[in-house]
Amino acid sequence: MGGRFEPQDVVAEYHDRAVLVGADLGARGWPLEESLAELSRLAETAGAEVVASVSQRLQRPHPKTFIGEGKAEEIAQIVRDLSATVVVFDENLSPSQQANLETLIPNTKVVDRTALILDIFALHAVSREGKLQVELAQMEYLLPRLRGMWRHFEQAAAAAGGKRGIGTRGPGETQLETDRRLVRNRIADLKRELKDVARNRQVQRKARSDSGVYRVAIVGYTNAGKSTLLNALTGAGVLAADMLFATLDSTTRRLDLHDGRTVTLTDTVGFLHKLPHGLVEAFKSTLDEVGEADLLLHVVDASHPEHRAQMAAVRVVLGEIGASGKPQLVVYNKLDALAPEAADRIRASERDAILVSAVTGQGVEELVTRISAETTRGFVTMTLHVPFTRGEVVQVAHDLAHVVSETHDETGTWLVVRAPEALVERFGEFVASREESA
Ligand code: GTP
Repeated sequence: MGGRFEPQDVVAEYHDRAVLVGADLGARGWPLEESLAELSRLAETAGAEVVASVSQRLQRPHPKTFIGEGKAEEIAQIVRDLSATVVVFDENLSPSQQANLETLIPNTKVVDRTALILDIFALHAVSREGKLQVELAQMEYLLPRLRGMWRHFEQAAAAAGGKRGIGTRGPGETQLETDRRLVRNRIADLKRELKDVARNRQVQRKARSDSGVYRVAIVGYTNAGKSTLLNALTGAGVLAADMLFATLDSTTRRLDLHDGRTVTLTDTVGFLHKLPHGLVEAFKSTLDEVGEADLLLHVVDASHPEHRAQMAAVRVVLGEIGASGKPQLVVYNKLDALAPEAADRIRASERDAILVSAVTGQGVEELVTRISAETTRGFVTMTLHVPFTRGEVVQVAHDLAHVVSETHDETGTWLVVRAPEALVERFGEFVASREESA
């Protein structure tokens, strides 16, 4: 969702030493090594240096500790040997699993995929809405984990001092309740603030939708090249970086089609597999941009070995936000990094596949043509009669519709235009006649 480049976006130095933990839970469509490679990039994006990766084959997760206790002890040894400061699980842990693991693997943080993603989101959020959304997701994540955090604190204090003294005594239930109340209050405040922001955003979106401009949303797996493609199409100057979730706020830009019409293009947050539902919830209002678009460009990093699985993960999120049925163009990006045989395989499996390189610009013109063709689906052809006193209507027709012909007589301007159904109402009284067209 469209962050600008800020110097602090670049993580200059590592401040954590991370041990990654993956679980092979059998046939679930995403190879463990790939999932761990992605986790490693996520950890690095969050500013951690990955010092070891550990995995375990599991029939099913252990209810108390996710991995086996023996494995947890093995990890504790690795943490000691390599002076690791954080253990990152590739799965989402329940609050009690996380607390139990922190007991078994002492003197280090234990975090899961959600916490890591939240951390990166917090680093990259730029807009007020983005920041509020991330904080809400963080607070909701924190609430059920407060007890475990206090227990961890008590154990650490007891281990450090043996006998409990001032400052090391546990908070007891009262303190825990106070903290829970504070977090709940903050959640309520954040939801209220977000509602206000969302209302403003809705007003802006409504204005855009009332204007009849055709809206295109760019979706895709994180790092697929969405921002780069937006730049290639519109010269938008949006941050494109080789890091995950560089873009957190949505950016909307105009794209001029070859026939002079204009559409808007919106870049959205990158999707990810195992994206926690709570996060999707938190970004709901930003993701509404996707739900309300007329067309989705699903950008795929065709050079990624797991691009099919990434496409499936994107479809899952689109389903969750009710956008599965939207018209879509799948754009296979990074053609320059693709072996010719691999490009041929895509073309063979999908006759209409669009292959582009957002970096070299190859295929981008064809993409504009394809977008243009999509925008005229469900168009109507209208004859407009506009008196000379209403020149602005003629201007709107030129901006938003395809003007087939324009003539003048003493009563005004006669236009034959092809335009989206939504514009019929806008031209209201000036529509002299209309016919449906494919
Ligand atoms: P998120 O913000 O994580 O969702 O990423 P994004 O999908 O917006 O990707 P972005 O445009 O930031 O690009 C990610 C990386 O892929 C950058 O290093 C780009 O330079 C690179 N990239 C994008 N398009 C292409 C392409 O066509 N070819 C090659 N070789 N690299 C590309």
